Amino acid sequence: MKEGKIGVAILGLGTVGIGVVDILSKNRAMIFNRSGVDLEVKKVLVRNPNKKRDIDLSPEMYAKDLEEILQDQDIDIVVELIGGLEVAKEYIVKALEAKKAVVTANKAVLAHFGAELFDLARKNEVPLYYEASVGGGIPLITPLTESLVGNTITSVMGIINGTTNYILTKMTTEGRSFAEVLDEAQSLGYAEADPTADVDGLDAAHKLTVLVALAFDTHIQLSDLHCEGIRKIDTMDICFAKDLGYAIKLLAVGKKTELGIEARVHPTLIPLNHPLASVNNVFNAVFVESEEVGELMLYGRGAGRYPTASAVVGDIVSAARVLSGSKTLLPRKFVKGKAVPVTETAGSFYVRLMVEDRPGVLGEIANILGKNGVSVASVIQEGRAQDQVPLVFVTHEVNYGGLCQGLKTIGGLSCVKDVANVIRVERGK
Ligand code: NAP
Ligand code: HSE
Repeated sequence: MKEGKIGVAILGLGTVGIGVVDILSKNRAMIFNRSGVDLEVKKVLVRNPNKKRDIDLSPEMYAKDLEEILQDQDIDIVVELIGGLEVAKEYIVKALEAKKAVVTANKAVLAHFGAELFDLARKNEVPLYYEASVGGGIPLITPLTESLVGNTITSVMGIINGTTNYILTKMTTEGRSFAEVLDEAQSLGYAEADPTADVDGLDAAHKLTVLVALAFDTHIQLSDLHCEGIRKIDTMDICFAKDLGYAIKLLAVGKKTELGIEARVHPTLIPLNHPLASVNNVFNAVFVESEEVGELMLYGRGAGRYPTASAVVGDIVSAARVLSGSKTLLPRKFVKGKAVPVTETAGSFYVRLMVEDRPGVLGEIANILGKNGVSVASVIQEGRAQDQVPLVFVTHEVNYGGLCQGLKTIGGLSCVKDVANVIRVERGK
């Protein structure tokens, strides 16, 4: 059982590694308050320590090699964010053999060597966590391994490659070419070091092996999996699909059938009213069907520095809690607080009044709204020659208390028969 600080080493300080170091240092106190574990990044390992990076670390933080990290008794968790196969595998194996907990975001290494690595982690009785390996920032692995552990899953179907989803979205909405959008996805840090892995479906195939293992307790060989990418998709196909009522998405599908487990990655026409059809840009989503919970969709950012680092940090904390033992697994502490009174909240509102249809009514109402600081974005008044007609307006962002005050006065006007409805408008972001 480990007491006090938990030491962390980060292998790889690229897109994701920098995000992890940043979150761990910025949110260290908050993480401690929430989880009871005090995490300290002690060392980082990179290929070229002299490279200019988006983060400032003291030179002593850079380990000269993996051995320095393995020998350091103050390092408990090794986080592999190098990517690729052979070196990453070698480093994970050495870390597990040195009885360090390992966190990785590397789906390629799991797809090729997962079974062997999990055996090794079991043998050495140390955690091996991989939340960021599928779906970037979406908590996906933890729900599948913990929350849904009592479910018989019948299928998993997902958009699990951010780069290709970004490309297909931009081709659909902006009619831009495949090559131009791929460049953009690379510069945003979504694409793999070699983006052919994204474009040809291999990255999604790697991730599908992880999902299938969790959903059906079965390791399938990558070579058994059907894999097609998006290179052949033309904007013409996207337009025809849309006319037919479909969106084109790169789907990864794992299904339990009478013949066995189906595992395939390919472009797919999805009905426009299916929840997966509105998953756009770098967002990913996995649609799970199980005998017990039914249909469930997990949705979020599938790639990028901070979304991915968020998942890695979650794993580091989980591993640290296991290493620190039972105390940190006690329920979390909360402080007592109060919610803001609703009259002090702001928002945009739809208001329907029933009013007399005569000149001057709108002016009287607008005057009272103005005095209460309520600014109106749009007004609709329809119908004539009845004793009362609906007058509908939508406000800009206003204080709810001010609106209530104004409507109370408005309700007392002789021309207003009823303040019939006030409904909050949620515009998203
Ligand atoms: P990246 O930006 O290419 O960074 C890789 C880092 O690894 C670099 O700092 C590099 O060092 C270091 N490195 C490479 N070879 C090394 C070696 N032999 N020894 C020590 N360090 C070495 O990669 P990334 O995008 O952060 O991805 C990292 C992992 O996260 C990959 O497995 C990827 O699939 C996964 N992932 C990425 C995302 C994403 O949005 N980017 C999302 C989910 C999962 P130098 O800086 O010195 O070259
Ligand atoms: N290249 C991957 C993607 C990164 O685009 O989804 C996240 O695994």
